[in-house]
Amino acid sequence: MSSVIAGSVPRMMSSSMRAGTISTVRGMATATSEPARPANSPRMKKFKIYRWNPDEPTSKPSMQDFEVDLNECGPMMLDAIIKIKNEQDATLTFRRSCREGICGSCAMNINGTNTLACLCRIDTDLTQTTKVYPLPHMFVVKDLVPDLTQFYKQYKSIKPYLQRKDYPEDGKENLQSIEDRKKLDGLYECILCACCSTSCPSYWWNQSEYLGPAILLQTYRWLADSRDQATEERKLALENSMSLYRCHTIMNCSRTCPKGLNPGLAIAQIKKSMAL
Ligand code: SF4
Ligand code: SF4
Ligand code: FES
Repeated sequence: MSSVIAGSVPRMMSSSMRAGTISTVRGMATATSEPARPANSPRMKKFKIYRWNPDEPTSKPSMQDFEVDLNECGPMMLDAIIKIKNEQDATLTFRRSCREGICGSCAMNINGTNTLACLCRIDTDLTQTTKVYPLPHMFVVKDLVPDLTQFYKQYKSIKPYLQRKDYPEDGKENLQSIEDRKKLDGLYECILCACCSTSCPSYWWNQSEYLGPAILLQTYRWLADSRDQATEERKLALENSMSLYRCHTIMNCSRTCPKGLNPGLAIAQIKKSMAL
């Protein structure tokens, strides 16, 4: 696995919660127009990338400059980062796998926004430097690779699988109506990239106890599943001041999700179901 991380503060969001579906629409990246230039002349784009090497613990993290000719590079940020690793510095470390927004491993902070490098277009304005950091407020393993140990531990804690007390009489499938299946839309698509959780101020300061938007969206995915029979146990696990109620509806999470999901709304649905 090759790899990379992100660290700057994401944009804050104060808009009110969107009602209705959990899914939202979000622009993936900017692509600005370029000034006219002779055909075939190089289009050199500058990148500043966060570097930190655990094998040199006394050295502080730093930003390293790279230049890439966009004529010779694919259109996405992951293309540029892979090209830099292949051609300029093989020690540059980042995670990636699917290159199509499915695995969630290339999450990083690009120009101040948590996103997936493989879904983020390179800003083609050659006068602007693109800055790349690991996901914010996480321990860094190396360069752009965040330590997701706590994030996965929290995911495991919500028992993210179907829990049944009885089984279908025919011993076959747990059936679900079309209407009930629709309740999972906007939830099942989450790829656990952690872009939302690492954009959430409440998660930054309380991540040892607060579950954060990604894990809470996953919690709601099981609360909303008509086939699951552990609803009361799942709610009971949230009956404390930290796991759920540290969400203050700041909504950075829904703004940053590169899959267009709305974890802020999922959290509101949980709170509503807890109140009823
Ligand atoms: S809505 Fe809640 S979970 Fe989302 S960013 Fe705000 S505080 Fe965090
Ligand atoms: S809700 Fe969106 S941002 Fe959060 S983990 Fe899932 S896919 Fe990533
Ligand atoms: S490489 Fe899989 S989501 Fe980007």
